[in-house]
Amino acid sequence: MAEDNYFRIRINSLNPDKSTTFDIFVLINQKYVHYKRAGDNLERDQIEKLSQKGSDLFFVKESDRQAYKNYVHDQVNNSSLETKVRAQILRESSFALVEEVFEHPDVETALNNAEPIISNLVQFMDQDPDGMAHLISLSSHDFYTYNHSLDVSIYSLGLAQAVGYSDKELEEMGKGSLFHDIGKRNVSPDIICKNGPLDDVEWEQMRRHPDFGLKLLHEIPGITEAMKACCFEHHENFLGNGYPQQLEGDEIHPMARIVAITDTYDAMTTKRTYNKPMSPIEALTFMKEKLEERYDPDLIHAMHSILFDLEKMAK
Ligand SMILES: [Fe+2]
Ligand SMILES: [Fe+2]
Repeated sequence: MAEDNYFRIRINSLNPDKSTTFDIFVLINQKYVHYKRAGDNLERDQIEKLSQKGSDLFFVKESDRQAYKNYVHDQVNNSSLETKVRAQILRESSFALVEEVFEHPDVETALNNAEPIISNLVQFMDQDPDGMAHLISLSSHDFYTYNHSLDVSIYSLGLAQAVGYSDKELEEMGKGSLFHDIGKRNVSPDIICKNGPLDDVEWEQMRRHPDFGLKLLHEIPGITEAMKACCFEHHENFLGNGYPQQLEGDEIHPMARIVAITDTYDAMTTKRTYNKPMSPIEALTFMKEKLEERYDPDLIHAMHSILFDLEKMAK
């Protein structure tokens, strides 16, 4: 029998009150060991304890991937659950899917596979007025390979929704922002994973990721100008001293202006080994007061209102 492959899930993508239809494993000494079998009770206390430890060490057999997706789909659409619980299941389960998307070597397939992730988020936002607020407030601010892309995508959808984008535009926004750093595929992993500031040569290579990204997206059929702009223009800034083209103000595509804000915001609020994360409001106040001229003022204003409302909601 061929050896089974496994994929990683986050324990918080499960509803503790609903047993699963698939087995769950933990990895101990390089071996996959049963943690729960299909139908076992999940025990809320245990899940809470494990998730506090930041445990990302749960796995499901590849052959159960569809069963996992069906389980998640049922829970996210289970109207007897609170919006916050459903938002958590949606957000946490999206990580497994995003990981699958980004690990695909072919960018075109990856983009196609990303469609259901984005449509689920857009649909969730549409169904429940508080849906997006919950998705945003659940951001864990920890650094995990694909957290950044998914969080930037969630924030960008929130901001785009707040300034009145249509569902069709939101789908574009979601995909464009999810793939904004796709060019980092062509930057050496030593540079991407370096724990500390980059030297000049490393920085030079890092700064080429918008360019690399554009080249990767360029030949894909159906890719829109807006999606390319999210990738190629997200490090431009209003003052004209960004990179790679030094575009100014309105020359920058509106969706790329959104990603410029959400990308910086996520970087500031994320825990990396060499920086202390700022709280959401601290980060945005800093961006507003110290970096104001770099961003579209209307968008900064909208982002501020979103986060301010979230703070009130959390109280
Ligand atoms: Fe970037
Ligand atoms: Fe980024």
